[in-house]
Amino acid sequence: MAASAPVVTHPDLVEVRRSKVHGLGIFATGRIKKGTRLIEYIGERVSHDEADRRYDEKDENDSHTFLFIVDSKTVIDAGVDGNDARFFNHSCDPNCESVVEKRRVFIEAIRNIEPGTELTYDYQIQRDDDDPQNIDEVFACRCGFVKCRGTMLWPTERKPKKNKAKKKNKAKKKTIVKKKKKAAKKRR
Ligand SMILES: C[S@@+](CC[C@H](N)C(=O)[O-])C[C@H]1O[C@@H](n2cnc3c(N)ncnc32)[C@H](O)[C@@H]1O
Ligand SMILES: [Zn+2]
Repeated sequence: MAASAPVVTHPDLVEVRRSKVHGLGIFATGRIKKGTRLIEYIGERVSHDEADRRYDEKDENDSHTFLFIVDSKTVIDAGVDGNDARFFNHSCDPNCESVVEKRRVFIEAIRNIEPGTELTYDYQIQRDDDDPQNIDEVFACRCGFVKCRGTMLWPTERKPKKNKAKKKNKAKKKTIVKKKKKAAKKRR
């Protein structure tokens, strides 16, 4: 059987620095062309139960996690053996997106990006019927965009964009903090 072609990423085009949005963020070190696959989201691959267990002890009003849902079986915990990809912050006006391919997660530029710009993607955290009332507060967004949604959660009335998502199997975007929601709900 022929070996599959290696996945080309450009981790050299990004660096970690302090962010105005939250803690550390990830920034462009050079010009990045739209469509560039920048970096793979790496970390320990664990089950949902194990991910829940790891975050169960945290304060339920703290949304900070390094978890990324791959599928119904697997979560990547970038808090263990993670790389710089774990430092992408959320924005309501993102310049990147996450893409799941063969159960691996990559971050790609969706615009041409100038050096020094913070790189972000929309976490698009989905809502659940039994979310606590203060869920938007817990997941408050500080991206600074003039039309910021005010929350990292996806609005109830809008469906996630379908265009490229379908073609590329874009992560159904419960992204990093989704598991934290589950853990918080369990403790109520
Ligand atoms: C994977 S971390 C991103 C890196 C993070 N800034 C750090 O220093 O570890 C994800 C967490 O960063 C915070 N965060 C990311 N984007 C945010 C935003 N737009 N507004 C508020 N907090 C944000 C949330 O606590 C989220 O759970
Ligand atoms: Zn925002």
